[in-house]
Amino acid sequence: MTDIDLKLNTGATIPALGLGTWQSKPGEVAAAVEHALVHSHYRHVDAAYVYQNEGEVGQGIKKALDAGAISREKLFVTTKVFPSFHNKVEESLNESLKNLGLDYVDLFLVHWPIGFNPNGNDPLFPTKSDGTLDYDDSFDLVKMYKDLEKEYKSGRVKAIGICNASIKTLEYLLPKIDVVPAVNQIELHPYLPQNDLVKFCESRGILIEAYSPLGSAGGPLLKEPEIIELAKKHKTEPATILISYHLSSGRVVLPKSVNPKRIDSNAQFVKLSKEDLEELASIEEKRGIHRYNRPEWADGRLGFPDW
Ligand code: A2P
Repeated sequence: MTDIDLKLNTGATIPALGLGTWQSKPGEVAAAVEHALVHSHYRHVDAAYVYQNEGEVGQGIKKALDAGAISREKLFVTTKVFPSFHNKVEESLNESLKNLGLDYVDLFLVHWPIGFNPNGNDPLFPTKSDGTLDYDDSFDLVKMYKDLEKEYKSGRVKAIGICNASIKTLEYLLPKIDVVPAVNQIELHPYLPQNDLVKFCESRGILIEAYSPLGSAGGPLLKEPEIIELAKKHKTEPATILISYHLSSGRVVLPKSVNPKRIDSNAQFVKLSKEDLEELASIEEKRGIHRYNRPEWADGRLGFPDW
């Protein structure tokens, strides 16, 4: 069981292992969150408005708090503002807090540095009459982020940050804002190590949070030969290698599971050596980059070299 804590640039502590809740279905996720907090000693839950399951995440949190398994002060909860709420940050936070049953979150993130029409034909994914996504040309990331800064100053969020930010996005944003993002939450694993972005964030005091550490739905990376080999060497599970890749590198990792056994086993940690980490970070040189989450609506809009 890992109890690794990291520090945010706000001075706050963040548990390095968090439970991912993207694609966790209603009907499953409340029990998964409760199990993680009560039985597997997770102290960190990563949520988002767009996952449309925050209400259940909140039920799981409530059960764990009511059972006395963890205190609110020890628990770390994250939520995010979706592109269709880019000019309604306060409203998005109100909704998320209501859903989660909390009066503050520990971390509040720009989910994607993209803007959709906030008054379109759908609250999340508005489309134009031709069926294509209804972007908002007036989207202004700096303005959106400044609205997150307001919430940070109000105390309803203890830290703020961003997701899916490339070096290009951060170089544009950083000179224009007051509060350096505490984190950049990105897809990260040995098949998408993004070494330059990781170094850039480290040099600016921005903690990296790795999402889809197993390669997202179905955990495709668990079947890759290099990962299986390393798991054999350490007499552990492939998932432990992929999770420990981040934990051994001083990053936050957010594996998603709704299965109690896998939630338990994902909390295992093996300390990987410098050589193991270099081997993992070089797989991409042999095998090529693989990004598992590439929503079409973000194509060409984020400034990642591979996307
Ligand atoms: P499940 O929720 O049924 O456990 P990622 O964290 O990269 O998004 O990967 C999540 C996917 O991997 C989900 O399909 C999840 O399914 C599965 N998964 C999570 N943990 C494990 C594990 N330890 N072994 C196998 N599959 C896992």
